[in-house]
Order: sequence, then C-alpha cells, then structure tokens
Amino acid sequence: MLFDTHAHYDDARFDRDRDELLTSMPGKNVGLIVNPGCDLATSRMAVEMARKYQFLYAAVGIHPENCGDFDPAMIDTLRTLAGEKKVVAIGEIGLDYYWAENPPKELQQEVLRRQLALAEELSLPVIIHDRDAHADTLAIVREFPHVKGVFHCFAGSVEMARELVRAGWMLSFNGAATFKNARKAPEVIAAVPLDKLMIETDAPYLTPVPHRGERNDSSYVCFVAEQIARIKGISPREVEEATWENGRAFFGI
Ligand code: NI
Repeated sequence: MLFDTHAHYDDARFDRDRDELLTSMPGKNVGLIVNPGCDLATSRMAVEMARKYQFLYAAVGIHPENCGDFDPAMIDTLRTLAGEKKVVAIGEIGLDYYWAENPPKELQQEVLRRQLALAEELSLPVIIHDRDAHADTLAIVREFPHVKGVFHCFAGSVEMARELVRAGWMLSFNGAATFKNARKAPEVIAAVPLDKLMIETDAPYLTPVPHRGERNDSSYVCFVAEQIARIKGISPREVEEATWENGRAFFGI
C-alpha cells in the first residue's frame, strides 16, 4: 500500500467532505497518512484526526510562515501534544524566505531551533520545510546532530541531498516532482538511494500531473511513486513497497 507521509487534512478545503474522503483512503490503496500541524490549532486538529482514523498519524509543530506571534509557552503546548500516542514527529517546522511578508528570518530561525531542541528532548524525528533557505536550514539542522528528520518537498541540490543522506536524513517528494518544469527534483531522485526516499502529497497543495490544478488528496500519491519509478527505471510497485517500509521505519509505525 501507499504511505502519504505529508498531507494537511486540517485544511478548510476539506471541510465539506473530510470524513468521506479520509474513510475512502484504504479502499484507494492508501494505507498510512501523516498529517503535520502548521500551528497550535492545526496541530491539535491533527491529533484529533489521529484519534479518529486508525491509518492516520500526527506531527505537531509551528510552520515558519505562522511563527509571527511566537511565544515560548507554545513549546510547552507542543510538548504536551507530542505526548499523545499517535504523534510521530515534530513538524512541519523550518525556514521560508520565499514570501516577503513572512516573519523576520531571525524569528523563524529561533523558532526552528527551539523546535529542534524539543525534538531532541523527546527523541522524535522532525519534518522540515525549507523554501529558498537551503544554506540556513542546513546550518541550523547541523547544530543538532542527534536530531534526524526528513526534508519534505526537497528542493535543494544533488550536493545538499548527498550531504543530508550521509548524515542520516530522509528526503521526501511530491507532485512538484511531476511538473514539466521540474529540474532539480528528478536529478536528486536519480542520485539518492531508494531507501532514503519517502513520498507525500502535501495535500491540498501541489497536485501531481495529470491532475494539476485540482484539489490534491492522498490517493494521488501514486503519481509521485510512478514518477520516481520512471526516473529510477524500476517498477511503481517497487517504489510503493520501499517507500512504505522507509516511512514506517522513519516514523516508527
Ligand atoms: Ni506541508
């Protein structure tokens, strides 16, 4: 079965059919989903969904775009939420320098460091969001050599990918790797061993070809597996099985 390691079912775009859609997933060959939070409210919602759906697991964290009102007490709330049985990671956390209106870089970096420290304290892996911030993200994760994680929607170079993989990190890819203009992702997928790769949708965003433009959901993660299979010259089945095992080992499921 397929393991969608990153989807946001807390998103309002799922309000009208969330339960129906999630309940349909095992019948669509999707056997596991990790839903990361992006602030305290969505982290709580991820935990609630994990209680309700046996195949859904949660991650809790504050996304760099949402750290503008950060208060250190939020770390205590995350620690409490992370104590829930089906919380398997701290995420998604990271740096996002793409949008000019995002919180200041220094604040994003502080919030990332505090959440990496929390992951270290709790011995949990992290789910990293790195958009146009490769050098700073790499430098900060290097400050925490005991913390391991995954770079979701990896967009760095082959060189950066090799360095992360050598240090024990995983890389995860989604519909962005299927877009016609995708350049780096196919190169990285070709260069990195299959046992370091995971697949995801980032639903409702980044819908893979041939459904680009529609709302994304976990059933479309098969198109990501097919793209990896094409690039590596192996069968989609092999990618499905390997990424299932990789994801289970990584999240301890
Ligand atoms: Ni995401």
